[in-house]
Amino acid sequence: MKICVIGAGYVGLVTATCLADIGNDCICVDKDERKIASLEKGEIPIYEPGLSELVERSRREGRLSFTTSLPDAVQASNVVFIAVGTPSLPNGGPDLSAIFSVAEEIAPAINSYKIIVMKSTVPPGTTERVSAAIAHLTKERFDAVSNPEFLKEGTAVDDFMMPDRVIIGAENGEAADVMKELYTPFVRTGRPIIVMDSKSAEMTKYVSNGLLATRISFINEMANLCERFGADVNQVRQGVGADSRIGYKFLFPGVGYGGSCFPKDVRALINAANELGCPVPILEAADSVNRNQPQILVTKILRHHNGDLSEKRLGIWGLSFKPKTDDMREAPSIPIIEELLKAGAKVHAYDPVAIDQAKHIFGERITYAATNYDAIDGADGLVLITEWNEFRRPDFDRIKKLLRTPVIFDGRNIYDPRQVREQGFTYYGIGV
Ligand SMILES: NC(=O)c1ccc[n+]([C@@H]2O[C@H](COP(=O)([O-])OP(=O)(O)OC[C@H]3O[C@@H](n4cnc5c(N)ncnc54)[C@H](O)[C@@H]3O)[C@@H](O)[C@H]2O)c1
Repeated sequence: MKICVIGAGYVGLVTATCLADIGNDCICVDKDERKIASLEKGEIPIYEPGLSELVERSRREGRLSFTTSLPDAVQASNVVFIAVGTPSLPNGGPDLSAIFSVAEEIAPAINSYKIIVMKSTVPPGTTERVSAAIAHLTKERFDAVSNPEFLKEGTAVDDFMMPDRVIIGAENGEAADVMKELYTPFVRTGRPIIVMDSKSAEMTKYVSNGLLATRISFINEMANLCERFGADVNQVRQGVGADSRIGYKFLFPGVGYGGSCFPKDVRALINAANELGCPVPILEAADSVNRNQPQILVTKILRHHNGDLSEKRLGIWGLSFKPKTDDMREAPSIPIIEELLKAGAKVHAYDPVAIDQAKHIFGERITYAATNYDAIDGADGLVLITEWNEFRRPDFDRIKKLLRTPVIFDGRNIYDPRQVREQGFTYYGIGV
């Protein structure tokens, strides 16, 4: 099929690349000229494991190209994906201005029947509104469908290639059939393609993210309670997750969820619910617990140092919102480091891939280390924020020699408290 994907970000670039990999002709459009120029040179603007090899192969074989010209790309395609950002507005609602501005550009470029696919995460009813906005501007035939994306940064290529499910929200059977044909090569292991109406498809995405975010906030709340009781949340988590009705995923206590999806989507759903006069107290609680969660670690650091960080230096391990990505959007490292700086601490930080992104946020207010061990050299504590694999089994003897004060603040509970304490460290985790 001939496909155009508008938005060359985490979702758009992965979508275009994976669809091209299985043989479709894909044009990926972005208004960011620098991004398109670097993609045309084979440079990938984001860190996503496995992506650059696939981009390179499809580009070389002529199935994937990049442009800033939306009309040309739309005209050359049968299926047009919208994958632009929908960030939070100050009131928590999603900013849909990029979606509607793209719709206005698509409409006059429609030269034959097109299927317009809403890949961005948008509130229920948005695909219908976009369809109406386009219909207002063109006499050509088209169908608009919703196809929310469930990929996870860090494993985005695998998630797109082997999705748990594909959700298609289509009012028209012909458009649904084309979408099913497009996705059939990705579900050969029998994973379902579920067709429903577009509002339900849009809502499926929000409910999924809302539920996952709620699980994280729930275990974080329980972790804080475990600590007060003197119970060990790591053991509790294992006991709870062993129940086949519950399972282990998204049940890890930590400094809270971040990234470009959970915080924004939870707030968007709260906002939409309130506008409808139908409050959602569970989601509001999940959001509020999460906003407070980074502070839990900061409080432990402050208490350990008797509330005074003015002469202290802290070594941070991990800046991205989760491992295997350079994405810093709403990363818990941001409020944690801001609070440490406010308390007078000097911060030396290391991240395997997110340092360039972090520089846009912290500038020269913190020091960026070349290795994780450099970050803690002479520091008054190791603060682990992102659980990159390379931090899981470090050389504790070396850490002890490097630290001025042998204390570990483990924001993701990746170390065994007993083992670390036996090695002579003071250890703080979440809920232990
Ligand atoms: N990042 C994820 O893990 C993820 C997962 C599932 C769904 N989503 C959803 O997918 C959507 C995109 O997210 P993302 O993380 O890829 O965003 P992103 O910010 O990484 O990328 C968006 C891209 O769209 C481009 N863009 C904006 N306006 C444009 C316009 N008028 N014309 C052309 N290009 C334009 C931007 O320049 C940018 O490159 C959001 O709605 C998000 O909620 C994201």
